[in-house]
This record gives sequence, C-alpha cells and structure tokens, in this order.
Amino acid sequence: GINSDYLGPVLRLHRGEFAEFNVKNNLNMPSTLHWHGVYLPALMDGGPHQEIAQGKVWKASYEIRQPASTLWYHAHTHRYTGPQVYQGLAGLFYVDDEYSQQADIPKTYGIDDIPLVLQDRNFHQDGSFRYVSNMHERMAGMRGNFILVNGTIRPLYRAQRRQTRFRILNGSNARIYNLHFSDNREFTQIASDGGFMPTPVRMKHLRLAPGERAEIIVEFGAKDDVMLQHKPLPTSNFGMGMGMMAMMMSGDDQPFNIMRFVSKNPGGEISTWQGVKHEQHDLNPANIVNTRTFGLDMAMGMGMMMNRMSGAGSGMTINNKSFDMNRIDEVVRLNDTEVWEFTNNSPLPHPMHIHDIQFRVLSRNNGPAELNENGLKDTVLVNPDETVRVITRFEHYTDERFPYMFHCHILEHEDQGMMGQFVVV
Ligand code: C2O
Ligand code: CU
Ligand code: CU
Repeated sequence: GINSDYLGPVLRLHRGEFAEFNVKNNLNMPSTLHWHGVYLPALMDGGPHQEIAQGKVWKASYEIRQPASTLWYHAHTHRYTGPQVYQGLAGLFYVDDEYSQQADIPKTYGIDDIPLVLQDRNFHQDGSFRYVSNMHERMAGMRGNFILVNGTIRPLYRAQRRQTRFRILNGSNARIYNLHFSDNREFTQIASDGGFMPTPVRMKHLRLAPGERAEIIVEFGAKDDVMLQHKPLPTSNFGMGMGMMAMMMSGDDQPFNIMRFVSKNPGGEISTWQGVKHEQHDLNPANIVNTRTFGLDMAMGMGMMMNRMSGAGSGMTINNKSFDMNRIDEVVRLNDTEVWEFTNNSPLPHPMHIHDIQFRVLSRNNGPAELNENGLKDTVLVNPDETVRVITRFEHYTDERFPYMFHCHILEHEDQGMMGQFVVV
C-alpha cells in the first residue's frame, strides 16, 4: 500500500496548483509511481524510466494543468506492474477546478461523492493474495474470484443522499466489468477518464475495462436494496468468429455480485445538471497531420509456451515488437493533432492507454464510438477484430530523451511486452 496497508490515499489537487510528491520505496525491490491520465513532463511520469531503488526517495513535481477529472496513480515497474498493483500499489487522484466546485452536481466527498475502486483478487489459504500461477492467468491476465471495492470484500453502501455520485475506477489487473444494477435501474454517466462529458448519458449498463474511470449518478428511493452486478458481455462485443472463445478465456461468461446498496429515506435534492459545454478540447479532425497504426498481437499456443519456459521474449506485441526500454517507437511533434489507430488481431480484448494526454474516440470499425465515449479518455477498449481510432494532440511538454509509454492496460500483457514508447519533440 501507499501510506497504508493496501491502496493509497485519495489525492486531491486543484488545477493551477504546483504539486510536489516525495515517493519513498520501502519495498525490498525496485518500484515506480505513475500518474495515470495526468498531463506532465516525461521525467515526472513515473514509468519504467523513473525507477526508485529500495530505500530511495523520488521527487515528482509538476503543475496541474488539466480540467477536473478522476485520475489515478499506480506502480509501473519494468516487468512488475502486474504484481505490484495487485498487492496494492494504487490510488485515486482527483483534479478539481472552478467548474467542478460550482457545478450543480453531488460533490461532498464521503457523503454524496463516493470513490469505488473495483478490483478482483484470489487468496491463498492463509489470506494472502495469490498472484499468477499458471499459463492461462499469464496469457488472459490475472483474474480473481473475489471482488474488492476500495479493498473491501462483500461491500455494502448505505446511501445518505437521494442522488449520489460514484467515481468508479476499474483498478483490476485484467477483468472487464459490464456493470448494471440488479433491478435494472437507469443511472447517468457524467464523466469519463478525462473529465466531464459534453453530454451525460442515461444507461443501464456500463462497460469498464482496466484503467478506465466513469463517474455516474445514481438515484436512490426511500427504501432500496439493490446489488451492483457484472453481467456477461454479449458475445457480439468480441467480434465475429472468436467470440465465444474470447468470452470464456477472458472469464466474462459468468454473472456475479459486486456491491450492495441500501437506502432508507435518503435526504437531499435532485440536480438537473445537463453536461458541460466548456473545456472540451477542440480536437478537430480537420487538423490531423499524422495517422499512426498499431497492430496488437498475441502469439498463442505452443510457441508462446516455449518462449515463456525458455525465458525468451513473450508473444505480446504492438506492431510485432515487444517492449524494449532502449527503443523509442514513435517520435511525435509538439502540438500535432494525430490519429492513433489500434487494430486488435488477437482473440482477447485489449484496453489501450496513452500516457500524458487525453484523447477522443473517433470510431470503432469505421462506425461510431459508444454513446458514453463522447468525452475525453486516456484508455479505450479494443475488442478482437476491431479497429479503434482516437484523436489527440500532444501539447504539453517535450523531451527528446525520456519517453512516455503507451500500452495495453491488462497488466500481465503490459509486463509481457504489449507496450511501446514515444517521445514528444
Ligand atoms: Cu495506468 Cu502506463 O498506466
Ligand atoms: Cu498512464
Ligand atoms: Cu492486452
């Protein structure tokens, strides 16, 4: 954990503020701390290049330059992100701004503004965490059969207000959730990874892949007792052909309970917030100067197994390249608007994440993006046989030497090489 046994404190920062962190590594192995979703200089990113040796302190400092949003921080250690996050090195990172402090939305922390960090874990008999122990877990990603919310097993929430905002982080290593309530009630998503959405979306199901965040508003009645559940994703979500196999391999074929919510005459008002019209990036497709294409591949079966056994590089690749800290994969020019196009050639879904920026999802297989992808995001799910195009602008900092990462946020895939590096110059 970070300043605690498991997970870390919710960090709360205001736009315009200059943040300084002293990160001390008390583990008996190297570690790092990455600020996921934050606009920051590459040297402060906390990726594999900012390794903190045992007993050492790393000072990270940067100005908070982005709009209000729910971001997070977690270990990002070369080849050990999966196990370190699994053990608890993660936490939430809230950015506030004038707008978020004034908007007519629930915003009292702990009362009607509640963090929900979703994670799945497996346990040994003695209660300690059990991490990857077989080929399947390594390849499909580590999934647990216990769901933890904010580190709690079988969580219960007693609603204090009729209208409550939940900031949900999928902090799991590999599990994709398709969230819904047992009574099938509607709720409203008001923010995605990068902040408030231009248009809130009423929904009954929310799909959240590892690394993604969503802020939702739930309305409670006088006497509710409902369960937040995972409902298997329709096979069509996995494209043609490999559908069933992908679903079974990814462990998404079974429904399960996540968290119980009860209410007894909750107080408060119902707001009528309609979305935010300012602060949405002018990511205009007319300004695109460059398109980069990325093919996601997993070498499956015997070849991969032999590789693992011999300790050679794994079969998790982007453009047929496995991660190499000494290779810069992409060089981006400051202020360029670009399209990054991810094509998934493998049978498993991959949530792709880009450091330092927020993007907008342009298309899925040349069709429209999902309704709730109308705002800024930094992680996007790419299903098997799918091509997802995102538009972004690299406008924050330059550094010719130190790169940012882009990678699959299934942490076992990242650790096995499904990651690349880019510099902004
Ligand atoms: Cu959430 Cu490269 O990380
Ligand atoms: Cu990140
Ligand atoms: Cu992946």
